[in-house]
Order: sequence, then structure tokens, then C-alpha cells
Amino acid sequence: MVELLLPKNSRVQEGNKYPLKKKVKNSKTFSIYRFNPDTGVNPSLDTYEINLEDCGPMVLDALIHIKGKIDPTLTFRRSCREGVCGSCSMNIDGTNTLACTKYINDSKGKVKIYPLPHMPVIKDLVPDLSQVYKQYSSIEPWLKTSKNLSERERKQLPEDRKELDGLYECIMCFCCSTSCPSYWWNGDKYLGPAILLQAWRWISDNRDEATEERIENLNDSFKLYRCHTIMNCTKTCPKGLNPAKAIASIKQKILARS
Ligand code: SF4
Ligand code: SF4
Ligand code: FES
Repeated sequence: MVELLLPKNSRVQEGNKYPLKKKVKNSKTFSIYRFNPDTGVNPSLDTYEINLEDCGPMVLDALIHIKGKIDPTLTFRRSCREGVCGSCSMNIDGTNTLACTKYINDSKGKVKIYPLPHMPVIKDLVPDLSQVYKQYSSIEPWLKTSKNLSERERKQLPEDRKELDGLYECIMCFCCSTSCPSYWWNGDKYLGPAILLQAWRWISDNRDEATEERIENLNDSFKLYRCHTIMNCTKTCPKGLNPAKAIASIKQKILARS
């Protein structure tokens, strides 16, 4: 029988512990993935206990508190603190979500925090997004038009503008793509739900003149058809969007042409 072993550096070890110095009424423990590729040391789970009276109610507030007051080496991305920039996406208690919109008290016990799954890790909670941004640029996410050139904004009728609802709200957090099993296994060729939702946003824009070219570019057994409608993407989207529906719409559009 073949014995399969994980590489030694894939094993997560128990890390440092930072308990509170004295007992408090309202405390919470955070178990956080730590990895620094420069040290050659295996990833670890560090444990921080904090007094919830000392920070705001969101998981991002706790991370900022830990970094500011307990351990300045903890690394994570964040910017807006209100769910609009997409920077603070991570895996909290097994679900990909935004740390700034996730309440600490949603976790019954210890809050377990990992980086977005199946992405290379730059450090701690910061994934390397180079590949997904390369894929984003491959769909040419800008308005393509040669007619009606205007110095001013390009207006749409309300019914045309409505077609972009559920698409323009995407904040590119990649919670969806990193929860998609097809993207885990074929992320080098399959575009994944975030990029396909963006592609559908440009196809749906009545001001864009490159619809045919865009569809042709997506009509590929790997780029598009690796989606097997597992729906993890839609389930996890912290903005309540439906990337699986966008993917189905692209497939329908391709079918309608043939
Ligand atoms: S519906 Fe498609 S894109 Fe969404 S998780 Fe499933 S396979 Fe991935
Ligand atoms: S569809 Fe939702 S989960 Fe996916 S990138 Fe956009 S906002 Fe994030
Ligand atoms: S910090 Fe911007 S979405 Fe969380």
C-alpha cells in the first residue's frame, strides 16, 4: 500500500500563547495562523486572549488591537473597515468572509482565523493575489467603445443600468474564488467565480461594444466550464452576490449564439 505523507513544512504547529495577565469578565481567545517564509519555520497557530472591553465589536477590531497592543509582527490587510475595499478577506471559523463586517460574538468559542484557502501565503493572513489579478486583467475590465465618444459620463437608461445590479457591488475580495473547489484544483486555468462575475458585468453593459469578443474569449473548457455549480461561491459572498448565477448567464449567452 502506498503511504502518502504531507510535506513537513505543511504541518501547522502550536505557536506562541499570549494570555491575559489578569482575569476579566468579557474575554475572548483568538487562534491565528502565523507564517513567515523568511524564517524557514513551519506555520503555527498563535493564541491571543483579549479583553473585549478594549476593542470594537468586529474581528478586524480585535486584529488591530492585537497588532497594536500585543504583537506588532502580526500581518494582515485592511483599509476601509466598512466592507467596501475587499482587503480584509480571510477565513474565520471555517468561512471566507470580511474581518471588518464579522462580529466577534458570532463565534461561540475561540475565534479561528486563517488566510483565504488554497492561495500561496506571503505572510500570516496575507495571500498572494498575483494570479487572480492576472486573470482579472485577462478579461479586460474596462469599457470598450469606439462610437459616441464623449468628454462627459456615459448615461444609461434606468432599465439598462439595472442590468448591472448584483454585479457592480463586487468588491473583489475573492472570498468566492477561494471557496470554490474547481478553482482550488484548476486555478491556473479556470477563471473562478470572482473574475467570471466581473466578466459578466462587462458583457451586461449596454454601452460596451466588445460583447462578442468577450464571449469568445470565455468560451473555453477551462476558463469557464470548470464551474460545476457547487454554489460555494454564492453561499460565501459577504456582499450577498450570486457569482454562480453570473456564470450560468455567460453559459446561456454562449448557448444562445449557437
Ligand atoms: S458554482 Fe461554480 S464557481 Fe461557484 S463554487 Fe461552484 S464550481 Fe465554483
Ligand atoms: S462576488 Fe462576492 S465574494 Fe466574490 S469577489 Fe465579489 S464580493 Fe467578493
Ligand atoms: S477593511 Fe475594507 S472590506 Fe474590510
